[in-house]
Amino acid sequence: MRILFVGDVVGRPGRRAARELVPILREEERPDFVIINAENSAGGFGFNRRSVKTLFECGADVLTAGNHTWDKAEAFEILDEDDRVLRPENYPPGAPGHGYGVFTGSGGHKVGVLNLIGRVFLGTFDDPFRIGRRALEEMRQETPILFVDFHAEASSEKQAFAWHVDGLASAVIGTHTHVPTADARVFPKGTAFQTDAGMTGGYEGVIGMEKDPSLSRFLTGFPTRFEPSGRDLRLDATVIDVDPESGRATGIRHVQKRLPEV
Ligand code: FE2
Repeated sequence: MRILFVGDVVGRPGRRAARELVPILREEERPDFVIINAENSAGGFGFNRRSVKTLFECGADVLTAGNHTWDKAEAFEILDEDDRVLRPENYPPGAPGHGYGVFTGSGGHKVGVLNLIGRVFLGTFDDPFRIGRRALEEMRQETPILFVDFHAEASSEKQAFAWHVDGLASAVIGTHTHVPTADARVFPKGTAFQTDAGMTGGYEGVIGMEKDPSLSRFLTGFPTRFEPSGRDLRLDATVIDVDPESGRATGIRHVQKRLPEV
């Protein structure tokens, strides 16, 4: 079976790229299950009803989030109402929503999806290593096909986690840096890994935001307003093949699609 994972969708331009390019990818790759990281899908920070609706209409089975989970007030209700929208599981107990679940994809396969957030350079959260492993072991009772979106700044933390669950998770894919890494591979015990999936949005910018405000913040230290970049729209995704009986990954590759400039 095949999983398609789409990297962080950034704002309205990212949603446009997703709307136009995810259906093309689904046609070409024929995935059984589609996961999209939605944490930057509303204005570049957080998600709202409109952005979530658009991403489900593109064909997502499950949406994941990250450090911008709480940026939009609607997120609280969405997380309560819709099981298919996940936020990192290792927020402290009491936070709204949940971070993992088993879902049935269009191909009929049961897929466990877990969203985690890293602690290095990102904030104080509960331990993703122990909490993540426990969630995977619990879902493993139901299905061997287990996918992890590890939202983190540090490559080291994402790689270390993948080794921690090699042979337990089918795939551990990093998000958050918005830069796709050229290290997609299958670990010895069968876990597919990529340090970062990249992003879906405007490549003419700084990690998906317009370049001038970002540059000016670096030059002056003065706070500036960030808007998503609408130029050079691309979609970064990762395609993972999994043996549905054992849950072991048999292949992983990065794919990038680009919208023609108008
Ligand atoms: Fe992030």
